Amino acid sequence: MCGIIGLTKKSEDSVKDVLRGLAMLEYRGYDSVGIAVITNDGRLIVRKGAGDLASVRKRLGLDELRGRTAIGHTRWATHGAPTDNNAHPHTDCKNEIAVVHNGVIRNYASLRSYLERNHELRSETDTELIAHLIEEELRNGKNFIKALAETLKKLEGSYALAIIYKKEPNRLYFAKMKSPLILGVFDEGSAVASDIPALLGITRKLIMLEDGEFGYVEPGGISIYKLVPEGSFYKINEENIMNRIKVVEWSPELASRGGYPHFMIKEIYEQPQALSDTYNGLIEDPSLKEASKMLSFSKRILVVGAGTSYHAGLIFTYFMSRLIGKIVIPIISSEFKFLEPAISKGDLVLAISQSGETFDTLEAVRSFKKRGAKIIALTNVVGSALDREADLTLYIRAGPEIGVAATKTYTSQVLALELLAVETGRTLGVIDNKEYEKIVETLEKASNYIQDSIEVSDPVAKYMAKLMNDYKGSLYILGRGLGHYIAKEAALKIKEISYLHAEAYPAGESKHGPIALVEKDFPVFIIATSDSPEIVGNAIEMAARGANVWILKSGDLELEIPEDEKIRTIDLISTDGNIVLEPFIYIPFFQLLSYYIAVAKGYNPDKPRNLAKTVTVE
Ligand code: F6R
Repeated sequence: MCGIIGLTKKSEDSVKDVLRGLAMLEYRGYDSVGIAVITNDGRLIVRKGAGDLASVRKRLGLDELRGRTAIGHTRWATHGAPTDNNAHPHTDCKNEIAVVHNGVIRNYASLRSYLERNHELRSETDTELIAHLIEEELRNGKNFIKALAETLKKLEGSYALAIIYKKEPNRLYFAKMKSPLILGVFDEGSAVASDIPALLGITRKLIMLEDGEFGYVEPGGISIYKLVPEGSFYKINEENIMNRIKVVEWSPELASRGGYPHFMIKEIYEQPQALSDTYNGLIEDPSLKEASKMLSFSKRILVVGAGTSYHAGLIFTYFMSRLIGKIVIPIISSEFKFLEPAISKGDLVLAISQSGETFDTLEAVRSFKKRGAKIIALTNVVGSALDREADLTLYIRAGPEIGVAATKTYTSQVLALELLAVETGRTLGVIDNKEYEKIVETLEKASNYIQDSIEVSDPVAKYMAKLMNDYKGSLYILGRGLGHYIAKEAALKIKEISYLHAEAYPAGESKHGPIALVEKDFPVFIIATSDSPEIVGNAIEMAARGANVWILKSGDLELEIPEDEKIRTIDLISTDGNIVLEPFIYIPFFQLLSYYIAVAKGYNPDKPRNLAKTVTVE
């Protein structure tokens, strides 16, 4: 995930602080680095490039730069490959404004085609557009703060911005919408950054900015404005700003995980942000439409992936069939060769891989390509091997995932795939515009729903983890339809993180074999999705054999659950009748359960035994 930092102070060593802050942002993962500084003789200097901080620092002589106001950035590519040109900061045509950005500008395509007419665009990024939009407002005679406000009104999506302007060398401008941004206050000046670790070497006095806030800092003070929905803005009174200053006492190590004890739990809690970035990044991306056309006009569709990515693919098969009546064939990447002889020209393969480097998935893609199939990739990593192999790529933009277990990348994949399914339905004409708008508006809210679901699930998962503390046996996680596909991912999390044997299968299969294993107190979790109320019968048949059954259901799902001391119900948040939201309300419980069991047993959830984040071997 991109990291930003900016600083203005009375002495000339801002760059030193910015570089220190960038080093603290490295843990977030990045592929390029850059800084911009206004020198004392009034020049705006930008130095940026692909690579890690140490190499770019040396190659471009970043340590030589001096000035009172500076900004810096670690980039994790979302629009355009990780190249020197695409690295931040980005500037306007006259090189007077420099911008660093974390987030995704959703209306990127329309803004770009508008600006292309009379601006010189030098990168493929959404960020550069912001510098040109401000430039345009300044040309119209506005002062900088008004130009910034007008620009922000035109942006849809998420952003945390730090901006410097050559003609105002002591000011650092900032703005926040849906991406984190923090102000730091110290005797000699002020700073902004996308997270606390970047500021800890400079100050511990912080103000957490809110959505819609923007403004500037200068050595003498802080000015914060707030955009209001009608399009105007007002200035926040100084006393209110001072009252918001908080002092943090985190150690640098704790800070690198954003205050969380492990990356896994941090990433579980980052899901609302990740979903918002996935949605904003894809909804107006022309590639989504292009992919939907390829799906619509292909002979057959196959979805391929490994582990969690395969499980996301299963959810795609479900919604393609349910929403638009199209059959999609799922294949586990390592099993590709058994299908290979049947693949031919006209087939389309949707390959899913968060890393884009999984050996099995790449092998499958390469062999299907040889047989004439077209490839669409869904990945989190711009420029990855899968990205390069594919005819077309969709990016999930979940930000880097450091914990070995896939958490936020899974839910981002699911959201992207649901958007793709509904877009394909529209292209095929089986979903009309009204229905399309309705589903898409619902999916925009997935970020809010997952936030609530995490909050509701956390204490319950913690409690259940305590109950299971001494348990060493197996457990079942059952569902039907959509619930079965969610259960497969839930069981994988329990296996890889808690080291308990968890099996997921369609609940209706119990009587065909697996129920033989059930005896007194055998744990069974039932994922009761709205498509399968009959699953209550499966819960009863398990309880009748002595199993301890927990039925997880959304708050608004009405089920006739009998009074039985072996059956308990866990009510999660309501989906308000929207089946497309169900994956986001059920999976956090199991991510959290696996995490809390692991922690209670003393296992490291970030580095489960025998597993690697990216599997580049057969
Ligand atoms: C599970 C997990 C793995 C990966 C699998 C595929 O938590 O992380 O099952 O999902 O190795 O990885 P990608 O998506 O990188 O191809």
